[in-house]
Amino acid sequence: MQVFKEITPLQEYLDIQVREGRTIGFVPTMGALHDGHLSLIAFSVADNDLTVASIFVNPKQFNNPDDLKKYPRTLDRDLKELETSGCDIVFFPSGKEMYPEEVHIVYDFGNLDMVMEGKHRPGHFNGVAIVVERLFKITKPDKAYFGQKDFQQLAIIKALVEIQKIPVDIIPCPIVREADGLAMSSRNIRLTVAQRKSAPGIYRALQGAKSKFNQTSIKEIKDWVDRQIRNIPEMELEYFEIVDQKSLTPVLTRRQGQTCIACIAVYLGEVRLIDNMFLN
Ligand code: PAJ
Repeated sequence: MQVFKEITPLQEYLDIQVREGRTIGFVPTMGALHDGHLSLIAFSVADNDLTVASIFVNPKQFNNPDDLKKYPRTLDRDLKELETSGCDIVFFPSGKEMYPEEVHIVYDFGNLDMVMEGKHRPGHFNGVAIVVERLFKITKPDKAYFGQKDFQQLAIIKALVEIQKIPVDIIPCPIVREADGLAMSSRNIRLTVAQRKSAPGIYRALQGAKSKFNQTSIKEIKDWVDRQIRNIPEMELEYFEIVDQKSLTPVLTRRQGQTCIACIAVYLGEVRLIDNMFLN
């Protein structure tokens, strides 16, 4: 496995690979890798001749400075795990390498950026789009892999490649969960033992919403989830929405043939966790 910290040598290396006819799969990450990230690497390794992973904690997408400061960083372990997973190339740039100058791009993602994460984390998706577009330009992948854990991010990335006409296939990958249902997340290691014990309540609330979906009104499901989360110590609901899987607009009454997804964000103590589940 090769590790690059600078853009130019990485691009020179990749240019040679492409000229020799190799296809490139790309997995962008912010490190503190877990089995969710590694599943993306496995999909890429299976599909492409070469897999490039990036590790960059992107300051532009953190609307909360404390969250950025406390974001876990486990580089040595990450590199070992990537190597064992069959990753070929790791790009691990500094902040200066990624942003040598101030960037002032403002994308228009319409409604996709106005609901849920977009509403509660202003500027977050603009920051994600800035770094991902930059990473796509550097690595020029044939395919790029994103987890459905961040369902709204996936929708934003699909919109980004369409708006900016970036020739890359975006491949969605399923959510990887712990045995008790908690969606894997780099932030899980910040939970106390007691918080970690109650965290699967998020998954149970989503499962409950799914099982009620064909029997009860959306309003009743939302009230039920609200009560479930309220009963979990230290957990506070930021939002629970049932939205159309394409437009991400809230669903008030169900239309035939419409696929709906439930999305949730909670605070467990100081740690913010998100999850989602298809309802039909
Ligand atoms: P990060 O949170 O490190 O996630 C990197 C990728 O791993 C994302 O595509 C995310 O959806 C996926 N992922 C995280 N947890 C997962 C799980 N439990 N199951 C499946 N996939 C999972 O998302 C980001 O970084 C950043 O916003 C980034 C795209 C790298 C831009 O900075």
